[in-house]
Amino acid sequence: MTSSPDTDAAVVVAPAIEVAGLSVTFTAGGRRPEPVVALRDVDLRVDAGEFVAVVGPSGCGKSTLLRVLAGLTPSGATVGGTATVPTGSSAWMPQRDGLLPWRRALANALVGARIAGIDRTSALARARELFDEFGLSGFERSWPHELSGGMRQRLALLRTCLPGRPVLLLDEPFGALDALTRRRMNTWLAGLDLVGHGRPHARTVVLVTHDVDEALLLADRVVVLSDRPGRVVLDLRVRSGDHDRARRTLLAALDPQTALSRPERARGAAPTVP
Ligand SMILES: Nc1ncnc2c1ncn2[C@@H]1O[C@H](COP(=O)(O)OP(=O)(O)OP(=O)(O)O)[C@@H](O)[C@H]1O
Ligand SMILES: [Mg+2]
Repeated sequence: MTSSPDTDAAVVVAPAIEVAGLSVTFTAGGRRPEPVVALRDVDLRVDAGEFVAVVGPSGCGKSTLLRVLAGLTPSGATVGGTATVPTGSSAWMPQRDGLLPWRRALANALVGARIAGIDRTSALARARELFDEFGLSGFERSWPHELSGGMRQRLALLRTCLPGRPVLLLDEPFGALDALTRRRMNTWLAGLDLVGHGRPHARTVVLVTHDVDEALLLADRVVVLSDRPGRVVLDLRVRSGDHDRARRTLLAALDPQTALSRPERARGAAPTVP
């Protein structure tokens, strides 16, 4: 629990997510001769109403972490430590958009809502509002293959948001897009204010990404995981107006070797983080 220093009466913020000493190992078997330790001793606390980005090199366990948070323990894995997310509070957007090719856009949007037990009339009304908000109005009857890459990603995100769960777990929502479309989608998402900063029922968002600029634009905090086995090597609060410095710090944490100047590398010096 944390309390706000700006008020007389302490405002207590309950964590939406609390991860302590989380380790995930994919056990050996089948075509895997050796066990793979995906995550080791990960500690992470995310308060309600925070937007946290998780960055890290490919294969460091980002998707594995998100799956565990979504309550989807990967098959063939042993999990140590704890990951606490209140039951039924989260919605997960997988790394691939997961749209069903045989369902039109509107029907795809309703999939999560029906699983969440929302009645069809309310779900439809909410879907129509969100199609408008997500710039997809007029495409309700389109098939997924008739949508652009950016539209598909927005539809997948819409589907994740529709059930109104308080915790969103987004796994590289724009990973499949070209750089320009990705930037546009980032700007759009920043404007959407998924968390709803300052609103009474703010959402909590954990976003996995490879992209430091995406993380800095969208998140309140950026957590960096090391190479596999992933563990937290940096937990950085993002302050507006300080993005250049934050960017250098994140890049240094992601890749300490390239953060060194050439003479420093030659001397075998430790990287300096500004
Ligand atoms: N179902 C599985 N069975 C066996 N090994 C797995 C499974 N899922 C993930 N792994 C292994 O765990 C490690 C972490 O995988 P994970 O998908 O979490 O990485 P990631 O950080 O999301 O990577 P990327 O950025 O490429 O998406 C990898 O070595 C991967 O091979
Ligand atoms: Mg992944």
